[in-house]
Amino acid sequence: MMHNDTLASARIRAVNFAYAHLAKPIYFRRDPERVHNDLLAAGSKLGSSGLGMRLASAVFDHQDGRLAQQVMGIRFRNPVGLSAGFDKNGTNASIMASVGFGFSEVGSVTRNPCAGNPGTRLKRLPEDRSIWVHLGLNNDGADAIHERLWRVVHRIPICISVAKTNSPETKDSDVGLADYLYTVKRFGDVADMFDLNISCPNAFGAKDFADPSLFEQLASGVMGLRPRQPILVKLSPDLDEGNMDRIVEIAADNGISGFICTNLTERHGEGSGGLSGKRVEAASNGTLSYISRRSREMGARFTLVGVGGIFSAEDAYRKIRIGASLVELITGMIYEGPGLIGAINLGLAKLLERDGFSSISQAVGADAR
Ligand SMILES: Cc1cc2nc3c(=O)[nH]c(=O)nc-3n(C[C@H](O)[C@H](O)[C@H](O)COP(=O)(O)O)c2cc1C
Repeated sequence: MMHNDTLASARIRAVNFAYAHLAKPIYFRRDPERVHNDLLAAGSKLGSSGLGMRLASAVFDHQDGRLAQQVMGIRFRNPVGLSAGFDKNGTNASIMASVGFGFSEVGSVTRNPCAGNPGTRLKRLPEDRSIWVHLGLNNDGADAIHERLWRVVHRIPICISVAKTNSPETKDSDVGLADYLYTVKRFGDVADMFDLNISCPNAFGAKDFADPSLFEQLASGVMGLRPRQPILVKLSPDLDEGNMDRIVEIAADNGISGFICTNLTERHGEGSGGLSGKRVEAASNGTLSYISRRSREMGARFTLVGVGGIFSAEDAYRKIRIGASLVELITGMIYEGPGLIGAINLGLAKLLERDGFSSISQAVGADAR
């Protein structure tokens, strides 16, 4: 084990060094959305051949039996997932296992295709290790993405992030609700779990369903479909405690499985849009901690997923000790490169060892107060 870990550590350090000194200086001079699209095109190509996937695994992947766990009836080989918004159209669903992820989100998917918002929609904020996002739920729509994913054999659990179409029509709550329900039904034969996105800061009324009365309609509407998959709800880091309390109660009453904490923050001085990375980390951890405590006080057994500002194993471990069974990231991977996933898995195993835990599930909630 020790010898393998030393080799893996050297390999991952070399990959991260190459990203920092060769790839990143080129990427960070170019338009962020173009780079994002080029990376997706490369990932899709690699993921379309067995050789490409084996090659990517040999470079990036690192697994450790101590990181595997059963959560919500699903087996996760490690707790590190790709957060919603990187693979919006499911073109990279095959390659994410080779990059080392334990699960990945596709979407956010909406009922109808949507081009997203006009103008500049992504900006890097390198001093803050953050990204300003104003994409506006651009995606190919539920039918096209379903068709694509249905053909893919995925080796890790796939979570479909569901939002309502970014258009003035879905401001009508009946239309908005029908939009969510359509997508959940559409992916019933493909998804391993669902994420109801009620917290996108960048689209027409995309947070309407965070209002407790509408959230109740959404939760009971989705659970009324009797989905065989667990349903998670993605929260904003900007919610007040009163709203969170109501949402947690409604979720418990309706059999929702858990929460993803959190989406982008709108508390910033950049006008519209939301911020990721280190600019949302403290608020995300605060939300995670609050939801973890409230759930315990209510005796509800929610699964929590921590996301926002993970750039290292220590960042991921902090969320796990607060109460997250799973974690996710995007921004850290953009700043540090795809070697970050292996580095986090390697680092998590060492942190477990340091703290005397024999498996990741023992660390979940170790700091819960
Ligand atoms: C480019 C980009 C696009 C995103 N798109 C979505 C999205 O479609 N749906 C969603 O729920 N969250 C979206 N997010 C938010 C992320 O899933 C995540 O919650 C947030 O970025 C915090 O994690 P991070 O700091 O690791 O990036 C997006 C984030 C980024 C950076």
